[in-house]
Amino acid sequence: MLFSGKALTVQMLDNGIAELNFDLQGESVNKFNRLTVSEFSQALDAIEAADGVKGVLLTSGKSVFIVGADITEFGDAFAAGPEGVAELMNKNNENISRLEELPVPSVVAINGYALGGGFEVCLGCDFRVMSDQAKVGLPEVKLGLIPGWGGTVRLPRLVGVDVAAEWIAAGKEQRPDAALTVHAVDAVVQADKLKESALKLLERAVGGELDYQSRREIKKSPIPLNDTEALMAFFTTKAFVGQQAGRNYPAPLAAVESIEQGYKLGRDEALKVEQQQFIKCAQTGAAKSLVGLFLNDQAISKVAKGWEKNADKQIERAAVLGAGIMGGGIAYQSAYKGVPIKMKDIDQKGIDLGLKEANKLLSKLVERGRMTPAKMGETLNRIEPTLSYDGFDNVDVVVEAVVENPKVKHAVLQEVEKVVSEDTVIASNTSTISIDFLAEPLSRPENFLGMHFFNPVHKMPLVEVIRGKKTSEKAIARVVAYANKMGKKAIVVRDCPGFLVNRVLFPYFAGFSMLVRDGADFQQIDKVMERWGWPMGPAYLMDVVGIDTGVHAEKVMAEGFPERMGKTFTAASDVMFEAGRYGQKNGKGFYNYEEDKKGKPKKVATEESYELLKPHVAERREFENDEIIERMMVPMATELARCLEEGIVDSPAEADMALIYGIGFPPFRGGIFAWLDSIGLDEFVKIADKYSDLGELYKPTERMREMAASGKTYYGDK
Ligand SMILES: NC(=O)c1ccc[n+]([C@@H]2O[C@H](COP(=O)([O-])OP(=O)(O)OC[C@H]3O[C@@H](n4cnc5c(N)ncnc54)[C@H](O)[C@@H]3O)[C@@H](O)[C@H]2O)c1
Repeated sequence: MLFSGKALTVQMLDNGIAELNFDLQGESVNKFNRLTVSEFSQALDAIEAADGVKGVLLTSGKSVFIVGADITEFGDAFAAGPEGVAELMNKNNENISRLEELPVPSVVAINGYALGGGFEVCLGCDFRVMSDQAKVGLPEVKLGLIPGWGGTVRLPRLVGVDVAAEWIAAGKEQRPDAALTVHAVDAVVQADKLKESALKLLERAVGGELDYQSRREIKKSPIPLNDTEALMAFFTTKAFVGQQAGRNYPAPLAAVESIEQGYKLGRDEALKVEQQQFIKCAQTGAAKSLVGLFLNDQAISKVAKGWEKNADKQIERAAVLGAGIMGGGIAYQSAYKGVPIKMKDIDQKGIDLGLKEANKLLSKLVERGRMTPAKMGETLNRIEPTLSYDGFDNVDVVVEAVVENPKVKHAVLQEVEKVVSEDTVIASNTSTISIDFLAEPLSRPENFLGMHFFNPVHKMPLVEVIRGKKTSEKAIARVVAYANKMGKKAIVVRDCPGFLVNRVLFPYFAGFSMLVRDGADFQQIDKVMERWGWPMGPAYLMDVVGIDTGVHAEKVMAEGFPERMGKTFTAASDVMFEAGRYGQKNGKGFYNYEEDKKGKPKKVATEESYELLKPHVAERREFENDEIIERMMVPMATELARCLEEGIVDSPAEADMALIYGIGFPPFRGGIFAWLDSIGLDEFVKIADKYSDLGELYKPTERMREMAASGKTYYGDK
């Protein structure tokens, strides 16, 4: 053994080959934390000092190769400013360059995920052999960063500027066939042949049959592009990447700039350029938010896994009541993730629609080569359409997704409770009706709770799991386990009108209604909020949700919270509703909708809605962008603070992730609490107080005022 540490070992194999094996003790994956980086450096010392080493083979003792840097170490390092960032990055940059300069050839056997720093170390090797089960990629832009250990230097020198820019700016994982086609790896082999193949390749390099020195030269030299070629390549790539990423996500463009600024330089100089770009990105709000979001995501997954661990059984059979938009989507998602599901409706037409939708989604996967026709058949077979309750005594969980009508829901829930076993958990997908109210006529309210999916179910990651007063821990655990199995992000919240997400979404819509009432142009509001980062502005969002659904929910919220959300004027949504403009679903709402070439609804501005609004709103006038943003965001933020204070949600991290996953709150802002922390609560309170005449929704809570006065933050104050 040349080196034995807690993160990696180096041992001599036959024929003078040293195997450097990454295997981080006490962890399920390998990552570049400070310990691994330091031991990597010691391992290189040992290899350099040893006699008789003819070649180096890099391997992993885990099912992954290396998943990247340890992101939990970023926060402190980034907070220490440029020097802190450089200090975190330098050592491993040095390591990878040392690996590249060893007096003997190196080969890496990529057995599983090699992402970020994990792939960058592979790029430092002379040759790369990849398992057909592995994936590689540089996903740093997803954290608002760029590769910082030579990814923007070595990858373009190996695969060309265009491919490298595309890979890095998109941050996607790449499959073995794609990696081989662009020569990012030298061979792809079956998983069980990986080590043997990598060793053979290394032996050929040791024997002089493969010229590893010329490989190194390519990676250490400038990129052979003349000025015109470079101008063309970078000009078009930057325009494309900049437009795709948008102004709120600067990292993809910074990655291309790093390639551009370094292409005429040798490796070491180019690495310095990369580091400058990395440091610049690390100082942005986007990186801070996206890194925070990554950590929050890990935190909520840990909570969800904790619930799952306490579940009394694995969910093997499920049922859904109602085969409409939501029921069909739930059945599809359950079947797709391997849990057989009965889909019951009272109407054959509903069932046909639900099945058609599942068929459409699966056919798309087959068309794109992401599923075989046989697998599609298997998945469809897991959905059992039915008009009766036969076999319901055999299911672990029932999700109720019938029409949003309290009377119908009460009747259906009582009915199903009689046919399931004592132990079955029943969950309602209601978007507005109180879980405690729905539980009233049930004889086993402990087995009842909310499981609120978002539309479209297959796309939206969030599931709000709503505990009623009588819901048992067992029921929550089982439903969270089911959500996990469906590949969803479950967040457990307490019962109240609108639960968490809709409770804060409707105050935001109230802010919109007041702006329009006071003479703002809804198209200007949409544009400003989209620029602020929302995937769609509030008028467009209301059209997509359905104006009828929105108006109904507004009523529920007004009844639930009359002091803040009670209606005092005819809102723009009421005007649209009265005129039969229900939004995208019937082709007209705030906007009109036409089919685009692909058959998807495309919004077009229309004077019709302005005409309808005219009698109900003040004369049209321009609003400052900041005023629009403030008047939209203050009600949402104050309501979310109330939810946290009332214990509707347990932590700022869960609240922030719920809004990001449920309604697309701009990820680069990290969530509402992260945003409040970034502007400072004292500043927020000042902003809110400017609008106090707009009513209770604009009043910060006492706790917010206290926190503002004492300089507290939500994330520092968990
Ligand atoms: N559509 C959304 O965006 C959305 C989002 C989240 C939650 N929800 C909630 O999901 C539920 C369903 O909404 P949807 O949009 O799918 O409605 P939908 O109108 O598309 O579907 C409802 C289905 O329920 C069926 N149904 C009615 N009574 C039934 C009964 N007694 N037994 C079995 N089936 C019955 C109907 O035939 C219909 O197929 C509602 O509670 C709604 O609030 C909807």
